Amino acid sequence: MPDTDLQQRKILVTGGAGYIGSHTSLALLEAGYEVVVLDSLVNASQEALRRVELLVGRSLTFIEGDVRDRNCLDRLFSKHDIHAVIHFAGLKAVAESVAEPLAYYDTNVNGSLTLCQAMQAAAIFRLVFSSSATVYGPDAPVPYREQMPRGWPASPYGASKAMVERVLEDLCAADSRWSVALLRYFNPIGAHESGLMGEDPRGIPNNLLPFIAQVAVGRRGRLGIFGSDYPTRDGTCERDYVHVMDLAEGHVKALEHLGSSGSYAYNLGTGQAVSVLAMVNTFQEVSGKEIPYDVSQRRQGDLAAFWADPTLAFDELGWQAQRNLDDMVRDTWRWQAANPHGYSAE
Ligand code: NAD
Ligand code: UFG
Repeated sequence: MPDTDLQQRKILVTGGAGYIGSHTSLALLEAGYEVVVLDSLVNASQEALRRVELLVGRSLTFIEGDVRDRNCLDRLFSKHDIHAVIHFAGLKAVAESVAEPLAYYDTNVNGSLTLCQAMQAAAIFRLVFSSSATVYGPDAPVPYREQMPRGWPASPYGASKAMVERVLEDLCAADSRWSVALLRYFNPIGAHESGLMGEDPRGIPNNLLPFIAQVAVGRRGRLGIFGSDYPTRDGTCERDYVHVMDLAEGHVKALEHLGSSGSYAYNLGTGQAVSVLAMVNTFQEVSGKEIPYDVSQRRQGDLAAFWADPTLAFDELGWQAQRNLDDMVRDTWRWQAANPHGYSAE
């Protein structure tokens, strides 16, 4: 049975200062939860949390710490009466994971193991885990459906997500007290509608939308489009882009659904595939800025096209993406135009 008495409870959000975590913390506060954020700030700014508090008019608790630090977790769980955990903390750059597999397995896999061990010791058994569409692997037919088996993702990053899913399934099989949602995100983009919060990658962006937005705002010269010879409608790769506030609301729904014993995987996507060229064109129309680009070679590991079948999330969680591509692009641009350097002041 879904747990209907979650509000007013404290939720631990690991990685809550990051892109998806900060938007989810805002959605949780707006839904009436208390929020404790644990973040090492390795890829985030505390300013994101200040803006969450400003927008909601309520405060949250921030703890700077590492999810691999068992003592830190034990202290946190003894001090705060945590009802459930949403686990975002992790490293997410696919190419970097190929170059530094140990760092990725340590943070993503070891971090998740340490978190679960500390949760078990503190008798906390409700968990929402940030997974990825990449767990379906390179050979899966589209659209991706949850009942399909996991594949073997090409990158250590993707493999780390598949491994943690397996660990959580095994944990649920061994101990019926666990209730776990595995949320498989497709391509999160967009920003909070206020323009005060958004994605703020460090260094050169790996992902398409932050790169386009930085070209539009004058921080980068030209976009490189990685290949135009794919077997797609216009030759560029197609992805299922989903608004970060829709994702955030999906986490609140998943949390409210926790309570049944076991692990449950859900796709969080729109079910629509958009090509790189279509995204560039939409961004130009919405922002009124020209996005100069060159077509370069394919990027190693990229798949031609994948998108979600999001039916299960609708049927079981009552979740469906509400925002369309124009909304996603408009909100990205509002954030980038108002914050050309992200959360840093320069
Ligand atoms: P992000 O980098 O903005 O957020 C991750 C957060 O975790 C950051 O605030 C970072 O400082 C923190 N962190 C990293 N290592 C930590 C550690 N050892 N201890 C404590 N905090 C730590 O990334 P995001 O886009 O918000 O992604 C959140 C989660 O969603 C990640 O697990 C990511 O793998 C997953 N995910 C992201 C995408 C995407 O395209 N953005 C897609 C699928 C899945
Ligand atoms: N792209 C470009 N130029 C860029 C950046 C991206 O053309 O500068 C293209 C890529 O080739 C791809 C599309 O834009 O076709 C989207 O690329 P992103 O890097 O934004 O997203 P990905 O689909 O590659 O990555 C996503 C998630 C990862 C996940 C991966 C699995 O962000 O978490 O899917 O394939 F691991």
